[in-house]
This record gives sequence, C-alpha cells and structure tokens, in this order.
Amino acid sequence: MKKLLIAILAFLPTFAMASSANAPAMEHANVDIRDKAAMQRGAQLYMNYCMGCHGLQYQRFERTFNDLGIPLDLGLQHLVPEGTKVGELMTSAMDTESGAKWFGAPPPDLSLITRLKGSGTKGQDWVFTYLKSFYADPTRPFGVNNEVFKDVGMPHALIELQGLPTQATEKQLVDGEMKDVYVGLKATGGSMSASEYDGAVRDLVTFLAYVAEPSRVDSEAIGKNVMIFLLVLLVLVFLLKKEFWRDIH
Ligand code: HEC
Repeated sequence: MKKLLIAILAFLPTFAMASSANAPAMEHANVDIRDKAAMQRGAQLYMNYCMGCHGLQYQRFERTFNDLGIPLDLGLQHLVPEGTKVGELMTSAMDTESGAKWFGAPPPDLSLITRLKGSGTKGQDWVFTYLKSFYADPTRPFGVNNEVFKDVGMPHALIELQGLPTQATEKQLVDGEMKDVYVGLKATGGSMSASEYDGAVRDLVTFLAYVAEPSRVDSEAIGKNVMIFLLVLLVLVFLLKKEFWRDIH
C-alpha cells in the first residue's frame, strides 16, 4: 500500500507537467455578472458575429431583452433578423448537417458554454482565452488555427475587430546561440486596439455567462429577500411563543 502511494506521488508531477506543457495559460475574463451595459454590448456582438452559426436554444429574445433592460421595440429593430417574433427561441438559422459539412464539425449551441468549459469562472476564462487565441495558419481550411483548440473548425469570427494574429518570435540568446523564441500572438489590421478587443471579448463572455444562468441575478436578489423574511418571521414566532406560554406558567 505504502509503495503504491509513493509510486503515485512520484508520478504526479509528470502528469501536471504533461498537461501544461503546450497549453497556454488561461487568461482571466473577470466578468461582472451584474453589469447590464456590458451584457447589452455583448448581446449586440453576439447577434452580429456568432448567431449565424451558434444558436442559444434555451433562450427567448423577449426574456433576454427584458433581463438586459433593452426595450422590446428597439431590440426587434436593431438586434434580430427581420421578421423575427419577440417570443421566439434564439436558435441559429444553420442546421447541424450543413454546419458539419462546411466546418468539419457542427457549430455547437452556446447556451451553456461558459459552464461546460469549467466550473466557477473557469469556463468564462476558457471562452475569453479561446476568442483571443486564433492565429494565422495557412495549412488550415480557413487559414487560422487556435492555441487552446487545436485544428478548430471555426473561422476567426472577430477578425475584422482584432485583425489576424500571428505567432510572433524574437531573436534571443539561448545557450550561447541566437534563436527564434516564441513570444506570443501579435495581431495587426483590426479595427480595434488590443485593449478594446479585450473589452469586446469580455462583453461577449459576460453575455454568455448571463445566458448560461439567466436567473442568477434574480435569484441573488430573491435570496436576500427570503433571508429578511425569515428573520422577521423568527421574531414574530418568538413573540407568539412567549404569548402562548404566559398563561401556562
Ligand atoms: C462561420 C460559423 C461560425 C461563426 C460565425 C462562429 N463560430 Fe464558433 N464555432 C464554429 C464551429 C464550426 C465550431 C466547432 C469547431 C470544432 O469542433 O472544430 C465552433 C466552436 C466554437 C466554440 C467551442 C465550442 C466547444 O464546444 O468547444 C466556441 C466557444 C465558439 N465557437 C464561440 C463562438 C463565438 C463567441 C462566436 C462569435 C464571436 C462564434 N463562435 C462564431 C463556427 C462558427
């Protein structure tokens, strides 16, 4: 038993190293799930750049607009394809079969993506990092690859905002020799600066975090009210008890 334990312990560092060898470190999305302005901007980005391929099948436009504080008529006018009814589910126009044919894999529904990719805020961090990890790779069908999702079937949907990043190298002295050392992704040619792009991606992830748990903000508020109610009830019940026992004593 003891030997087995020692053997396992000896191997543990190997596993840890193997899993982190090539995977780039996750960046932190730092989303604020109560920031409605960010969610509104994120919803707009989502409708423009993602909805063509990825649906949000558990979510209705009406609920989304109401939760995010977007007036229904404005939302219908600016955020949805013409002819959409406000009570409809936010499904994508693309069917699974065509998606699989065009991209090698169908674009998955993203309703729960921030929860599927990790617990707590890990899933949000993953999506944030993923959208910042596309880079030029001429060997791929769409000319791009992704550092956290190798050989991904998805094109770089936000290329006009970020530009096309390349895997940049710098000449550095290694073991007494000048070598090209990988220093990260460098994007050029987008309409946004690097920090503006970070902000846009954070807004998108904030929106997706809301979609994954639409009742979260409500339930926090309700939870607080329930606690206050229970405290008031406790006082009343205590007074009642005293009242009852007075005659008995
Ligand atoms: C042109 C179609 C298309 C557009 C537009 C698009 N995607 Fe994708 N996306 C795909 C496909 C196809 C996959 C599946 C890739 C694979 O499995 O190789 C994918 C995968 C993903 C994944 C990984 C899902 C998983 O389960 O691992 C995420 C996250 C994602 N897309 C987010 C987005 C976001 C956010 C946008 C908008 C900014 C967007 N996508 C725009 C086609 C698209």
